[in-house]
Amino acid sequence: MSQLNYSFDELMAEHDYATKICHKDKTLHGGLLADGTYRPPRSLNRTPAIEAWWGRLKEKGHAVAVMDRDAINRANVFFPTVGQAKLLLAHGCKDALTRILTLIGVIEGFGNDGIRLLPEMDFSEHFVESLDGTCIAHLHRGLLVAHGQDEAGSDKEYGHDEMWFAIRDRALEDPTITDDMFENLPLAPPPGYQGKAKAAPEATSVGSASRLFEQLDPMVELTFLALARILHVEYGAYTTFKWAREVLADPEVSAAPEWAPAMVDNIQADEDIHVRYLGCALAEARARTFRGTDGSTLPGAVVIDRLVEAVCNAMGGERIERMKCYRYRHIVDELASHPRGDEIHRELAKLGPLPSLPSAA
Ligand SMILES: [Fe+2]
Ligand SMILES: [Fe+2]
Repeated sequence: MSQLNYSFDELMAEHDYATKICHKDKTLHGGLLADGTYRPPRSLNRTPAIEAWWGRLKEKGHAVAVMDRDAINRANVFFPTVGQAKLLLAHGCKDALTRILTLIGVIEGFGNDGIRLLPEMDFSEHFVESLDGTCIAHLHRGLLVAHGQDEAGSDKEYGHDEMWFAIRDRALEDPTITDDMFENLPLAPPPGYQGKAKAAPEATSVGSASRLFEQLDPMVELTFLALARILHVEYGAYTTFKWAREVLADPEVSAAPEWAPAMVDNIQADEDIHVRYLGCALAEARARTFRGTDGSTLPGAVVIDRLVEAVCNAMGGERIERMKCYRYRHIVDELASHPRGDEIHRELAKLGPLPSLPSAA
């Protein structure tokens, strides 16, 4: 039978890499085995552990997807499209694309701060059934720390945020990075964020979440709501990976047509672990019974399905449109100072729909 219980150190254990990947003077996390295949950081035991927990859910008939991944992908059509992005780059318009890649890196970094907000706790008293040998029991035994370091790096190595900046700098040949690329962003950093990114006013006014289950310990509800929210972000990111891979693999517009898409593939392999463990913890909770602070019980399916519904409603239309408008606004600005801006703008419209910008107040 597969091992189901792991120590913190076991879940953080690294492969014996034959080759580490570097960018300038910094090492990137993860690495290549002797046969050249990439393995994510801290995945020696983390990957088999997650598969073992899924295996147990499967044996019991509980291996369910708690969230509609296809629906999230359908809603996350990337703007500018691959064709539109290539058109801009082919005309030397690098600024808007530089901002887009910078923002992707910034959002990756937010992931670690969001995870750090989750208070360390023992979930066993909050479920009727045992949590022995489950993914839930390992959230604070390495899984969340490993995830945070995947997103934002560690003292020793670059994580996803800096990996996207490296992709940007290699593919677009060290474009100019200005402070305003970190300001007026369409997404607010999580509380506790210490970096320089700042959200636009309209992105910070998103309402605070109200409690959905008064009888649950608030930190239990917060944790599972956060896991669902992060899973939603992770699912949506695959659209971005596909877009970036296609744009940056084209030697006509990318100076790193092999290195950049290979790095995107590596990041995606790291994210595969995140979606597997987040989905597993949520499916385990869904298959159990929550215990309220007043001694009452609530079926896991009722709690998890409601939390997932709340997340999907909150993460839908308006948030995605804000991101698209942010990207389009910078494209419009860049084309305004381009000698053939009007012509390129018309070409852009022929290649795909353009977001409708809110009229200036
Ligand atoms: Fe990431
Ligand atoms: Fe992730």
